[in-house]
Formats: sequence, C-alpha cells, structure tokens
Amino acid sequence: MSTVPDLDPPAVAELGARLAANVSKAVKVPDEVLRNVLVGLVAEGHVLIEDYPGVGKTALARAIARSIRAEFARIQCTADLLPADVVGTNVFNQREDRFEFRPGPIFANVVIVDEVNRASPKTQSGLLECMQERHVTVDVHSHELARPFIVIATQNPVEYEGTYPLPEAQLDRFMVRVGLGYPNAHDEAEMLAAHAESDRVLDLQPVAGVAEILAAQVAAAGVYASEALRRYVARCWRPPARTRARTWAPRRGRA
Ligand SMILES: Nc1ncnc2c1ncn2[C@@H]1O[C@H](COP(=O)(O)OP(=O)(O)OP(=O)(O)O)[C@@H](O)[C@H]1O
Ligand SMILES: [Mg+2]
Repeated sequence: MSTVPDLDPPAVAELGARLAANVSKAVKVPDEVLRNVLVGLVAEGHVLIEDYPGVGKTALARAIARSIRAEFARIQCTADLLPADVVGTNVFNQREDRFEFRPGPIFANVVIVDEVNRASPKTQSGLLECMQERHVTVDVHSHELARPFIVIATQNPVEYEGTYPLPEAQLDRFMVRVGLGYPNAHDEAEMLAAHAESDRVLDLQPVAGVAEILAAQVAAAGVYASEALRRYVARCWRPPARTRARTWAPRRGRA
C-alpha cells in the first residue's frame, strides 16, 4: 500500500484548486457547487447530485472519479438491481471445493451510483448501509471497503414514476446534496463545440492520486474546532424548543 504523505492546510487547498481546475475542463458547473462536492470528498462524506435530465450530473461524477486516479465503478440503478449486484456475492469454486467472495462495484474507491432512486428500497438500504458502515457483511463474513471510499449518487427530481424516493431519514448518509443548474449561454455554446469533438470527460488526465486524497482526509480530520465553534454548529441545527416539543410529544389516549 502506498504511504500517505503529510499535507498541511495550504497543500489541501492547492489540491482542491487543482482538482476543481481539472474537472472544470470537462464539466461546466458553478464554482460553489464544485467546491462543495470536493469538500465532501476531503471530509470523507458522500455526495448526492440532484437536478433535471441532461445538466451534467453523470458527467460531473465521472470527471471527479477520473481526476483522482482512483479505482472507480459505476452502478446504473434499475428496479431489478439486487443488493448482491452492489456488494458482491459468494460463489462456489468447484476446483477448490469452497465458496469465494466475489466483490461487487461498491469496493471501488469512487462509486458512481446513477439514478439512485430507481433502485428498489432493499437495494437502496444495502447501499446506504455500506456508505455508513464502510464495510460489507456477506454470509457472516465482514469485508472492509476501500479507502478512500466515496459514493457520488445522482438522481433526477422529476419523473417520479417507477422510482423509490430515498427515505428522508436516511438522506443524512450524504454529506453534500447539490443541484447543478443550467449553464449560461456562453458555456452552453462552448459545450456544443466541445461535444462535437469528443467526450471531454474521457480526455481528462488524473491530477491527484489515492495517497494524496487520503492525506487530505487525514489533514481535514485533524482541523481543530474550538468549543465555541462546536456549540455554534450544534445550535445551528437545533429546531426551536416549541417545534421540538410538538414533534416528539407522545400521543395521549392511545395504546
Ligand atoms: N454542465 C455541463 N458541462 C459539460 N457537459 C455537459 C454539461 N451538462 C451536460 N453535458 C453533456 O451533455 C451530456 C449529458 O450529460 P449527463 O449524462 O451528465 O447528464 P445527466 O444530468 O446525468 O442526465 P440524466 O438525468 O438524463 O442522466 C453529456 O455528454 C455531457 O458531456
Ligand atoms: Mg445521468
């Protein structure tokens, strides 16, 4: 396994800028969106990209995966996708007379899960569990997932027919949820020209490696947060006392 270099905060910022510049060569998205996605990568989170068809959701996920020279896999979700198609399965090796684990695409470093809301609830639940636990259990045997490990899932907010919306309570498995919006006229004209030549994402060269991403994750985890900051963050997401009481009050007069 490659050794993890030490990165200080300016080096992490430089890495982020390098990745953003590379991805932008292939996909036109607002800088802030790209920044949030890269923050998700460095903070060991997972990313959900939501927007209308054809705005570059899959292209963005592919561009990030190509930029970091990591092993990547793509899962196209459909209603008949099984949990075993995602995590892998035990197959019988006749020559050796024993079962062997054949890992699924979830064992890659970057896993692009396209149209996640088209997978059945059972498969979604298996996927969301892997994202949180970072390991997979198949027939009592536990298997560690790769490091770094990031799921970049996409979904379309229109056309709900035949889809299974992700459970609201489990959306927190994603650290970052972004929309892309439509590109401006200038970018759109450029995209048309670029598209005529080739697939820009396939032309991208990696600008970082797995060890560097791991180092950035270690550096981010080591950032000091003062007590005042922690209190402030906790206060930001607490609902006002009245809302809380109403949400959690037990029902009276019922079993
Ligand atoms: N913002 C963008 N920047 C660069 N190329 C784009 C952009 N949006 C779309 N494209 C190009 O248009 C094509 C369709 O994009 P893509 O498949 O990523 O869309 P999508 O949002 O995943 O659509 P769907 O919801 O139908 O899956 C791709 O070939 C991509 O190169
Ligand atoms: Mg797509």
